[in-house]
Amino acid sequence: MKNEELYRESWSLFPTGVSVVAVLDNNKNIHGMTANSISSISLNPNIVMVSIGMERSIKDHFSKSNSISISVLASDQTGISNHFAISNRTNFLENNKFFQFSNEYFFIKKCLSFYFGKIIKKHNIGDHEIYFIQVKYFNLFKKKEPLVWYKGKLSKPIC
Ligand SMILES: Cc1cc2nc3c(=O)[nH]c(=O)nc-3n(C[C@H](O)[C@H](O)[C@H](O)COP(=O)(O)O)c2cc1C
Repeated sequence: MKNEELYRESWSLFPTGVSVVAVLDNNKNIHGMTANSISSISLNPNIVMVSIGMERSIKDHFSKSNSISISVLASDQTGISNHFAISNRTNFLENNKFFQFSNEYFFIKKCLSFYFGKIIKKHNIGDHEIYFIQVKYFNLFKKKEPLVWYKGKLSKPIC
């Protein structure tokens, strides 16, 4: 096994939740991407970090947008996670159906929690772009369990 594969495998032992990060383009079409590399960085003010690979098709839309949506998925949303993990460079029109829109923000319908805000800083690190997003709106829906990413698979929480 190559070192690179072993390194990836070592991180697959670290369970995370699963989110969909999304932006609207000028034609009001949503571009979304499944992401587990999100993290709460600051509580005052509320700042969230997202890491996006240089090769990702959402990258250019993301860096241009002033409105970023991050939805944390529930355990019954594996289909949505899979949808936004496959390349959707051409059929992104289908994306909008997964979202609920309010006047000022949008988020995945029936998700666990969502955060909506604007980019306040960006850094290029290695093969990823790191974005820091100041949260303007958020909400949480406590009745569901999280979707978990562990050993390269989607699962329900063990406890
Ligand atoms: C559970 C899971 C988590 C992921 N997390 C990230 C992430 O944090 N950052 C990232 O750049 N890609 C991440 N990806 C990969 C992207 O979701 C996926 O490769 C991309 O959306 C494919 O579309 P594209 O080829 O149009 O870029 C993740 C994939 C999965 C299945």
